[in-house]
Amino acid sequence: MNNKTYKIVNLNELPAAEEILSEKELAKYNSFRIEKRKREWLGGRFAAKSAIWDRSQKSEVRDQKLRDIEITRDKYGRPIYQTQNSKLKIQNFLLSISHSGKYAVAAAKNSGCNFLGIDIEKTEQRHPLWEKDYFHETEILSNAPEFLTELWTKKEALLKALGLGMKADPLDIVIGDKINLVRDTPVKALTKDAENVKIIKVQTKDSKQSAVVQARPVSNGVKFLNKALARYQELGEPDFIIKTAKFENYIVSHAFTEEKWRI
Ligand SMILES: CC(C)(COP(=O)(O)OP(=O)(O)OC[C@H]1O[C@@H](n2cnc3c(N)ncnc32)[C@H](O)[C@@H]1OP(=O)(O)O)[C@@H](O)C(=O)NCCC(=O)NCCS
Repeated sequence: MNNKTYKIVNLNELPAAEEILSEKELAKYNSFRIEKRKREWLGGRFAAKSAIWDRSQKSEVRDQKLRDIEITRDKYGRPIYQTQNSKLKIQNFLLSISHSGKYAVAAAKNSGCNFLGIDIEKTEQRHPLWEKDYFHETEILSNAPEFLTELWTKKEALLKALGLGMKADPLDIVIGDKINLVRDTPVKALTKDAENVKIIKVQTKDSKQSAVVQARPVSNGVKFLNKALARYQELGEPDFIIKTAKFENYIVSHAFTEEKWRI
């Protein structure tokens, strides 16, 4: 896992809310009635503020306590952190937050980045009808819970990067449109190209092994439709990368453009 690009925190090991939240944030935190929502919200802010603090080189950020950092939202509803540079110009730093089970994760990027989304989900067996609401048939290359959960995290990360949340249909994002499925490729032929392919399934027939493979990088295969396409165009059609990591029974996907961290 690359801790430089995002931060994971355990919701059962959070500091006190007063150490993390600004006064305004504390008032919002206290207004939540459900304990689980409180912890998730607090954990998301702890992860996001820690990500900002960890990645910043500038003393005006590193000298701040976490409760001095306040997280607000941009016009699309995406979480942001505002700071002032030396010329006292306000800069927005894009953040992305997600929570699932006992974890919260957050990613932070510099002001040049206008596309950032992260999602964490626990791998679970879900009802088959769930698949139909969220995925196109062409996307379902496997019914394995791990495969579908990974697909889900990618869509959620992209919905957040687009700032759409629930305003877009998950079917407006098609993952794998340009993915090159090479069936019955001899396994030996894959080894020289191992960096560029992901083996989905190896099968043996008449004592010969062959594989179903998927070309990397997956982000090149993302297609946006309808509202998702309109927002992607509004954001200037940035080139982006999607990275996925797995730990315990969780999957984290992170969509971002590759500008360098500059605060
Ligand atoms: C807004 C959405 C991203 C929330 O997703 P979720 O899985 O319920 O929750 P997560 O924990 O992953 O993310 C919640 C965080 O998203 C962020 N978020 C909310 N609206 C957002 C927006 N418009 N843009 C970017 N980020 C947003 C918030 O920071 C929120 O955390 P906070 O309230 O603690 O600050 C939205 O896509 C959603 O509700 N989806 C529900 C399920 C769905 O349709 N899934 C499709 C999967 S294929």
